[in-house]
Amino acid sequence: MLGVFASGFGGLTILKALAKVLPEYDFVYLGDNARAPYGNRSFDSIYRYSLQAVNYLFSIGCPLVILACNTASAKALRTIQQIDLQKIAPDNRVLGIIRPLTEEIGKFTQTKCVGILGTEGTITSKSYLLEIAKFWPDLHIEQEACPMLVPLVENALLEHPATEMFVKEYTQKILAKDPNIDTLVLGCTHYPLLQGLFLKILPKNIKIVSQGGIIAQKTLEYLAKHKEIDARMGKNGKIRFLTTDSPEFFEKGAKAFWNTQIKAESILLYS
Ligand code: DGL
Repeated sequence: MLGVFASGFGGLTILKALAKVLPEYDFVYLGDNARAPYGNRSFDSIYRYSLQAVNYLFSIGCPLVILACNTASAKALRTIQQIDLQKIAPDNRVLGIIRPLTEEIGKFTQTKCVGILGTEGTITSKSYLLEIAKFWPDLHIEQEACPMLVPLVENALLEHPATEMFVKEYTQKILAKDPNIDTLVLGCTHYPLLQGLFLKILPKNIKIVSQGGIIAQKTLEYLAKHKEIDARMGKNGKIRFLTTDSPEFFEKGAKAFWNTQIKAESILLYS
């Protein structure tokens, strides 16, 4: 099984893209809904929660886990990869969703000016800035934290005037920092649900880049390159949904993210 971990529902936008590109693979999605959102939490909490989830997914037979949450990728991924993995499961792998996008981002922009929107945690970590500088040192990057968007999406207020107001405010702020921005990264897995609103509000020359398709393509390439991981993956086209909250809560909240009815199971995560 390929493990897909997220703080809550947002990782479903990544899972959807993964299941489209890798339809024969078995997936298990784990949403830490009982402790979401992660966006404003401390480094220590996000790291601890993410490590618990990774351990859990390893324990049920996932050789590869994707942290399908920008906040967890920004705050927990490196430590888990560099310190914990060797101790807990040296033959398993954990990947994030920030680096794959940063490898590609230079291909989208003509002005070489790119804006990143994300949670407070993702933006203050500067992960996007650091990763993009490695691959595309000549790009000019501006960032803007959008703390209101995750709660609005989680509450399914996708077309609410309040959501439109905040999308307007955040996009105006980032464009004021650099009017030459022609590419805007939706650096939070919840934001693709607001794609329509972004398109309505933004000037037509600005491209919106979200992560799903890029992550799915990179995962496909990763599995082709890492046959030892791929060989340990079940391929019956099954998807399991796990949540740290109640199944009812997950099944209801997932509706905005997933087009078929989901059957969820509840689990407990320990340290
Ligand atoms: N969707 C998550 C991300 O990509 C953030 C959600 C949360 O704040 O828990 O960063």
